[in-house]
Amino acid sequence: MTKKNASGLHTPIGFIGAGNMAEAMISGLIRTNTLSARLIRAADPSSKRRSHIAEMYGIETEADNLFVVQRCPIVVFAVKPQQMASVVTDLAARNGFMEPFRRLVISVAAGLTITSFEKWIYEGIPDHQRHRIAIVRVMPNTPALVGEGISAFSANAAATPDDLSVTRRILSAMGETVHCEESRMNAVTAVSGSGPAYCFYFLEAITAAGEKLGLTEEEAEKLAFATFRGSLRLLEAQKEKPAILRGKVTSPGGTTEAAIRVFDDAGVRRAIMEAVEAAAKRASELSTTS
Ligand SMILES: NC(=O)c1ccc[n+]([C@@H]2O[C@H](COP(=O)([O-])OP(=O)(O)OC[C@H]3O[C@@H](n4cnc5c(N)ncnc54)[C@H](OP(=O)(O)O)[C@@H]3O)[C@@H](O)[C@H]2O)c1
Repeated sequence: MTKKNASGLHTPIGFIGAGNMAEAMISGLIRTNTLSARLIRAADPSSKRRSHIAEMYGIETEADNLFVVQRCPIVVFAVKPQQMASVVTDLAARNGFMEPFRRLVISVAAGLTITSFEKWIYEGIPDHQRHRIAIVRVMPNTPALVGEGISAFSANAAATPDDLSVTRRILSAMGETVHCEESRMNAVTAVSGSGPAYCFYFLEAITAAGEKLGLTEEEAEKLAFATFRGSLRLLEAQKEKPAILRGKVTSPGGTTEAAIRVFDDAGVRRAIMEAVEAAAKRASELSTTS
């Protein structure tokens, strides 16, 4: 796992689709000085979106995806998964990937496999030139929007160690990174992709419980949110396993033990395991139909 990296890149990066995820990446790249705004371009069909991104970050925007792909050796595809096939095949049909320079294609689309991108992009590219187009699949998560995400990525055989290093530097602008086999992406999706929702679910429940016990909503939220944040910081600072720290705050016959006994009796741990497994199964179903 790598920590945030603020060292600068000098290769132009283009974004196809300038929505929420692209904006998180663009703002992170600029904020962390990973890339200068003058080296970033984005394409989006919405003139409102283009104006917003151009004014907010001072980058060049285009209505036609081809202009971005032709000018940027690194291209991040950040359209919705259901729009991806037509966006990529349109660019391939217009020789968008037939450029003299080496390319790094990064997809942040949930569920879309590297094989799909190889099929869309490599068709029409002579065999001996395919190794010049590396394809990387990324699974980010929503805390990326505030620079605190974690992105897992997998790459195809065309990716060089330099491509992997550049990918890591780009993704580090949104938080932490993990490089893994693509076969693990469904597990990643189930743990960190859907993970923020599990945290919010737990916070919703604990806040509601606080209110039931007589706290105001504001008090309950403040207590619960700070407890979550503080517990994570403690975990990181002490470099202990969660079970160890839990043991330290669970005295025999005390209040915490009474609560944990209810969790155990209700099968909460088993339910969490089954929920995460269900998310992985669904991720697998969605990626095999894409
Ligand atoms: N948001 C997240 O937290 C998150 C987390 C993990 C992964 N992702 C992945 O990130 C990708 C983008 O998600 P998002 O939340 O950023 O979606 P989004 O906000 O809807 O952004 C997608 C953008 O692509 C534009 N677009 C549509 N058709 C296009 C085309 N033909 N060419 C270029 N741009 C086009 C859309 O414009 P219109 O709105 O005008 O259609 C929109 O501005 C998805 O594949 C998603 O799976 C997102």
